[in-house]
Amino acid sequence: MKPLQIILIVVAVAAVALGLRFAPGFLEKNEAVALGGPFTMAATTGQTVTQDSFKGKYMLMYFGYTYCPDVCPTGLTTLAQALNSLPADKADKIQPLFVTVDPARDTLEQMTAYVAAFHPRLIGLVGTAEQTAAIAKAYRVYYAKEKGKENNSDDYLVDHSAITYLMGPDGRFVSYFGHDTTAEEMAKKLASVL
Ligand code: NI
Repeated sequence: MKPLQIILIVVAVAAVALGLRFAPGFLEKNEAVALGGPFTMAATTGQTVTQDSFKGKYMLMYFGYTYCPDVCPTGLTTLAQALNSLPADKADKIQPLFVTVDPARDTLEQMTAYVAAFHPRLIGLVGTAEQTAAIAKAYRVYYAKEKGKENNSDDYLVDHSAITYLMGPDGRFVSYFGHDTTAEEMAKKLASVL
């Protein structure tokens, strides 16, 4: 083979590999291996819950905090609208969860009032600092307290990833929705999976 032919073959193989890498199906299959996992959190239902508490249902999970000025309210409104637009028999298969990444301020009382404002079936999860770090790590959620406000002040923002995760009845990763996903798009995807 001439050098040029070899180069062309290498380029062609690389292009196919890249195309596969960025195809949505490829991402979903591969993320499924590592995303999610066991957790223990206090729930706004008054119970202590683990990943097994929701077995048999899809978990639609959003991570944020109640003092969030706009990102969380937008994300949770989208989630609630998507759920409400599904037929009841499908919506009932989904347990919506709001996990706080700000357990220092988000008490169970605070979370209970907050989740009720978005959807009657939305359950809030609150952990200790360690439990929060563990669930965030398992779900690859980034969160960080505002710089310069590490000490003393109760007035701070928390930077956090704004991804909604759909986990299957077996607890395995199914799909995710970015912050720009509309309620219509989310509902369509949910309906296709359920
Ligand atoms: Ni937020």
